[in-house]
Amino acid sequence: REEPLVLGIETSCDETGVGVVRGHTLLADAIASSVEQHARFGGVVPEVASRAHLEAMGPTVERALAEAGVAFTDIDAFAVTAGPGLPGALMVGVAAAKAYALSLGKPLYGVNHLAAHVCVDQLEHGPLPKPCVAMLVSGGHSSLLLVPDVAADVRSLGSTVDDAAGEAFDKVARVLDLGFPGGPAIDRMAREGDPAAIAFPRGKYNDGTYDFSFSGLKTAVARWVEARERAGEPVPVADVAASFQEAVVDVLTQKALKVCKDNGVRDLLIGGGVAANSRLRALAAERCAAAGVRLRVPRPKLCTDNGAMVAALGSELVAAGLAPSDLGLPADSSLPI
Ligand code: KG4
Ligand code: ZN
Repeated sequence: REEPLVLGIETSCDETGVGVVRGHTLLADAIASSVEQHARFGGVVPEVASRAHLEAMGPTVERALAEAGVAFTDIDAFAVTAGPGLPGALMVGVAAAKAYALSLGKPLYGVNHLAAHVCVDQLEHGPLPKPCVAMLVSGGHSSLLLVPDVAADVRSLGSTVDDAAGEAFDKVARVLDLGFPGGPAIDRMAREGDPAAIAFPRGKYNDGTYDFSFSGLKTAVARWVEARERAGEPVPVADVAASFQEAVVDVLTQKALKVCKDNGVRDLLIGGGVAANSRLRALAAERCAAAGVRLRVPRPKLCTDNGAMVAALGSELVAAGLAPSDLGLPADSSLPI
């Protein structure tokens, strides 16, 4: 018997994502992004994102179906990000998913965005080890999760107390005039710089928690750059970028491996947009190897927000025999894990 065909919809932030999977097989991953419409504001504008989702939804579903080579009526189940995320943006996806499910009389699964970021790796690297530890780092979240079972039991052990890791990249990029989104620009710039040039603070490094703090680091970078400018000296942009990036990835990898060690877990997954960072990947690989921990990082297109991750988790919920959501499923901007 064939596994069910699941269509997943993601609209929690600025990407309209529609994915189609069968079991652990990825059949389509269509994306429409409104990132360019937000660039001149230096960050995602919720109202602009919601409107863009509304316009992109239908066409993106069409593209995903075409890419998967299936008809809309072939879909066996629908999944949608119910939260966390921007309220208005989530609502567009949830309303669309309800309409699609209702029109075909097929089940609808509301899923947690963070759990979906974890689950997507199964499409690339096969079944997740049980348990594993997941670190999700993006513009909206920085979380450390213990994952005994991605369908049924995902526990949050820590998160950022202020800015998300990607948000820190974006804000520092603004200070350095590198544009939005800042992560890729800092990553590129940092390759020309010295990561040890400036000793920026590492918030909460050895505080015994699994939480992060990046706003002190962001402020320290801004102060450092301002002091240079006030003194009429040139700003060594590459060194600042490299030193800032090193401070972020040092704390991230240190805490992720602490969770593994404290819980006796030997598999670490890193996801979210910041997982595309080349220095984070390199340092995580180095520290995991030293600690005897296996590292899984999905390819960049699966790390950033997408519909395939939602379909992947929907597929997992179907396989686990869990009950679908009813058509009263709310969009919950602060949905807990
Ligand atoms: O997962 P994502 O696409 O969207 C959410 O925020 O949910 O992540 C986007 C974030 C942005 O803050 C962006 O600057 C950051 O991921 N990012 C990176 C890199 N590529 C994207 N940060 C550091 N290095 C990168 N190479
Ligand atoms: Zn995300």
